[in-house]
Formats: sequence, C-alpha cells, structure tokens
Amino acid sequence: MANIIDGKAVSAKVKEQVRIETEALIQKHGIQPGLAVVIVGNDPASRVYVNNKKKACEAVGFKSFEYALPEETTQEELLELVDTLNKDKNVNGILVQLPVPKQIDDKAIINAIAAEKDVDAFHPENVGRIMIGEYSFLPCTPAGAMELIDSTGVEIAGKNCVVIGRSNIVGKPMAMLLLHRSGTVTICHSKTQNLAEVTRQADILVAAVGRANFVTGDMVKEGAVVIDVGINRLDNGKLCGDVNYAEVEPKASWITPVPGGVGPMTIAMLMRNTLTAAKAQNGIQD
Ligand code: GUN
Repeated sequence: MANIIDGKAVSAKVKEQVRIETEALIQKHGIQPGLAVVIVGNDPASRVYVNNKKKACEAVGFKSFEYALPEETTQEELLELVDTLNKDKNVNGILVQLPVPKQIDDKAIINAIAAEKDVDAFHPENVGRIMIGEYSFLPCTPAGAMELIDSTGVEIAGKNCVVIGRSNIVGKPMAMLLLHRSGTVTICHSKTQNLAEVTRQADILVAAVGRANFVTGDMVKEGAVVIDVGINRLDNGKLCGDVNYAEVEPKASWITPVPGGVGPMTIAMLMRNTLTAAKAQNGIQD
C-alpha cells in the first residue's frame, strides 16, 4: 500500500507561502507582482487553465492581466503584444498559453518574451541556465514534481531516477533537476528497448509520456516513489494519468494521484516564479 502524495495540500502550502511573501513585498517595498496571461483562440482546455491562473493570482495577491486574442490573430500582432508587455513595469511575468493557432510559430513567441519575465522558463536562455544549474526559475511542472518528491522526505541523492518522456517542457528539465540533486538519472522514450527492465530499476519513477495507463504494475519496483505527470482524458470524460494506478499503487511506497497530484502544483510554481521575477526585476534579495 502506497502513501498518497497530496498535491492539493502541497500546492496550498506553496501558495500560502507566496501569499505571505507577497504581502510583505507590498508592505515593505510597495511592489505588487503582476502576471500577464495571453490566450489566443477558443481552446476550451486552455480557457480553463487561464481562468485557474487568474484565480490563483487573486488568491496570492498578484495583479493579473488577461489578454484574450481572437483565433485569427497574426504572429506579428502577438509579437507586438509581447513587446508591449516586455516593456510594461507592472508586468513581472508573461505567459502565452500554448498551444497557439497554427499561423503562429510558438518558438518565435517564446524567444520574444524577455527572459527575466519568462515565468514558464521556456526561453532558450532559461533552458540553458537550467542545464548549468544557475537558474532563476524552473519550468512549473517539473518544479512541482520535485516539490512533491521532497514532500515525501525520500532522499534523491544516489537513487536510481527514471524519467519516461523527453519533452522540452517536462522530461528533459525533470531529468536535469534530478541530476542536480545527485540522482542517477535515466531518460526513457518511445524508442527505448526493454523499457520495463529499465523502469524496474527506478527508486524514483517519473511518468511524462501522455498515454493513459502506460505504466503498468510489472514496470515498477517494490517501494518506488511514483510521480505521474500525465493528464489524459478518457472517452468517458474521466481524467487519467500515465500510470495504471490500480496496478502500481500496491507496489509503490509513495504515489501521486490524478487528478490531485502534479496538476495543482503547476499553478503554485507559476505563482512562485512570478514572485521571484518581481523581486529580481526590482533588485530585492529577501
Ligand atoms: N499549456 C499547457 N500547459 C502550459 C504551460 O505550462 N505553459 C504554457 N504557456 N502553456 C501551457
């Protein structure tokens, strides 16, 4: 029987800490962090994410600026908005919700966001900083997954850590964060041979493949910590992770549920990054 890692509780703690620090920042320095969220088009899932980000900003005491642009927005128009936000002193963090419509090159947009306001940590400068371990912010989902691992009290140093998935947003940075903490890290992906053999070596297993119930019981070592980054919607409308929970839970020592695991952490880490950005832009150390 695994212990359940409660992402809602851990995320509430992170947000409360951000709220307290924000209150102090406003009182001591008169600075209220501001996050600009840009959404292009009418993707319903994106709409839900953006609404949640706005609510989280209100809860921690940030200013939030929302820019909802029509589906037919051109790349030039979006770049112009990003440029305006880059120059706006009230905006400390900029997030352009992905995916953007197909006429817009998401790489061009990410590159245009000022690195110090890139609270997603998607800009190549921030990605590079993560590689060398000298970062100001971390991408929200892997940072949230690390917080959840730390919440278990399990030591990462020296452990076999296996990450399934090699995306720029989750798999690659996740592997780097585990490496910075002295884990022995293996990244697996769709071409990995004998995948189950590799994942069975994992003391800490992170699944970020985007396929429902991909990790089955036979792929998991007895006593492993299992972090499920997947959010897949089944035909019946239910949310489901990358891990087959019913099979894996009896073997794991700790496991994240879906929903209620990594998901709630992402927004909490976005709030933390925005606070960090506001302090850095105003030369505040504490
Ligand atoms: N779309 C889904 N997740 C994310 C995220 O973390 N950041 C951005 N910008 N878009 C997303």
